[in-house]
Amino acid sequence: MTQEVIEETADGIEKFITSLMVATSNCSLYTKEHESFDELAKRTHVNLVKILLEKLDIMILDNELIINKIPIRDSGIHNKNFINRLKRKGVSRINIDRGVSIPEIRQMIIELAHSGKELKNLPHIQFGSVDVNMLASEQNDDRDAYSASKGLDTVKDIIQSASPFKKLNVLGIEEVVLNFITTFKREASILKFLSPVKTFDEYTYTHATNVAVLSVFQAQSLGLSDEILHEIGVAGLLHDAGKMFISKEILDKKGKLTQEEFAEIQNHTLHGARYLIKIESLPRIAPVVAFEHHMKYDGSGYPRLLLNSNQQKQQIYSQIVAISDFFDALRSNRPYRKGMDTTTS
Ligand SMILES: [Fe+2]
Ligand SMILES: [Fe+2]
Repeated sequence: MTQEVIEETADGIEKFITSLMVATSNCSLYTKEHESFDELAKRTHVNLVKILLEKLDIMILDNELIINKIPIRDSGIHNKNFINRLKRKGVSRINIDRGVSIPEIRQMIIELAHSGKELKNLPHIQFGSVDVNMLASEQNDDRDAYSASKGLDTVKDIIQSASPFKKLNVLGIEEVVLNFITTFKREASILKFLSPVKTFDEYTYTHATNVAVLSVFQAQSLGLSDEILHEIGVAGLLHDAGKMFISKEILDKKGKLTQEEFAEIQNHTLHGARYLIKIESLPRIAPVVAFEHHMKYDGSGYPRLLLNSNQQKQQIYSQIVAISDFFDALRSNRPYRKGMDTTTS
């Protein structure tokens, strides 16, 4: 194989792994019924067919991905994610044969996306393990890679498992946001990413992901760097973290809130900032955004600051998240009113 062919193949493989991981994250984030799932599965299939001459032999050896005997030396987020997901399923080898169909790819994505599901052999896809004596990897025990990927499956898991007494799964949040950013580069329609809220219980996590998606998109259209996009995405995902500290009866109340109840709800900004500031691995803008996302540009909103609005302006990141928050709140069904439609002009 010439150097050129190797590079071309490596490029094709990278595209395939990226599309497979974007589809997998999307599937764990939403469901296989989400309208983007079919499209992402089809794209993964197209990318796979391009590199599939006879057979694709994927191996994981000592934390390294080897495809058709070519070591893929890219330690990017998608490759790592792919390796971690396969390891959690106890799989270190996949053989994909020519003729693999879209339904088979869909099935593989669904099983990869959900932690409770096992990877089952399909007519053109076989899962197994590499039969070599991996002394080195036994010694390393791979503890870091495992703990980093554990519990990443869905934003729902992350948000629901977060409680005032538990540590937040920061790595899971980062992975989700990175996937938004990667996908946005190729997708034109942001509305496709917004998940409808089907039940009131789903509101918290779908609202969080929608706000993150909308905020990253706004930041991207302002031309901000990938690093900042990422920070804004994480801050968007966690903007309402303080609601964990507010009683459910008040949050879900259908009727008019009393003054005391409204004051308690407003406190979610302060609770969120206090909670997030203690988590060192989060971007520093996350607690700021949690604190400021209900402030308004003209100095109104809450929390009210003692300083006058000329001295203390709302940060640009908080402004971005506030716009996303408002937009998503308007279009969602809430206990006290129906959401507005976004399809009309
Ligand atoms: Fe809020
Ligand atoms: Fe919110």
